[in-house]
Amino acid sequence: MDTRVLPFTDDSIAEAARLILAGEPVAVPTETVYGLAADATNAQAVARIYQAKGRPSFNPLIVHVPDLASAECIGDFGADARSLAAEHWPGPLTLVVELRPASSIASIVTAGLPTVGIRVPAHPAAQALLRAIGRPLAAPSANASGSISPTRAEHVLKSLGRRIPLIIDAGLTERGLESTIVAATGGTLRLLRPGPIHVDAEPGSGERIEAPGQLASHYAPSKPLRLNATERQDDEYLIGFGDVPGDASLSPGADLVEAAARLFDLLHQADASDKPRIAVAPVPDDGLGAAINDRLRRAAAG
Ligand code: TXA
Ligand code: MG
Repeated sequence: MDTRVLPFTDDSIAEAARLILAGEPVAVPTETVYGLAADATNAQAVARIYQAKGRPSFNPLIVHVPDLASAECIGDFGADARSLAAEHWPGPLTLVVELRPASSIASIVTAGLPTVGIRVPAHPAAQALLRAIGRPLAAPSANASGSISPTRAEHVLKSLGRRIPLIIDAGLTERGLESTIVAATGGTLRLLRPGPIHVDAEPGSGERIEAPGQLASHYAPSKPLRLNATERQDDEYLIGFGDVPGDASLSPGADLVEAAARLFDLLHQADASDKPRIAVAPVPDDGLGAAINDRLRRAAAG
């Protein structure tokens, strides 16, 4: 795939919006770093972010919206979160709040968690794109897995060239550092990632256990999980893939983008079933399969 680099104009934003609505990830500048943006309501589009980055694991991604009103359609803001938002948005602050069950955010965006990280970027290109699309955008930094965050279009091109169709170029980003992340769930403020904005919050860790069986940044099913299962045992809910049909399939056609897009929905479905155990068919370990298997191994390890 050829990667076009276009300067930030009305026309390039229209083209970026067209590609994103067609399910492609596009690199766009924010005031922190360049993000690789996809439609947060389209699970397969978000899976393509992981495919392009070659990231061997799933993390919850930040949802970008144009304003606080849009953010409140997605997450449940308490008084603390709302006043931080009012003070710092638009700007380099991400707030982790409870996800509204009725929101249309794909489960791969939150990596299956009941919470969601949201921010309102200040950069005019990111703002223009959000308003052109009218949908929330999931966007991690626009670099290949293992390389540093991009602060120029050239960095994105070097890292993701030929893997994405378009980069919007607005020169050097102003902050050069990823957003501050603050969790505002459960009545306290916890700092999950330091960044450009100082917030008075207790130190927190993305890995801290917040509820039994649940890590702050990793959803895991509550039931035992068996990997590489080609047949269902009596007490198992089998998640299929390819030739193994199962009770439900990650992808009957063995398509890894589809499988990644369905992974968290099917884990939740298996967890909610009346079977006490979960089994999962083998998934090849190449490309997105590595991230899928990483998540399944963690789930199997309890
Ligand atoms: O400045 C930024 O924040 C950039 C630009 C593109 O907006 N984005 C960015 O995304 O740095 P990323 O994917 O590198 O950071 C996402 C991090 C996750 O690794 C996790 O630490 C945290 O945000 N996060 C997101 N949602 C979360 C949630 N529901 N619970 C806990 N942590 C969450
Ligand atoms: Mg990053």
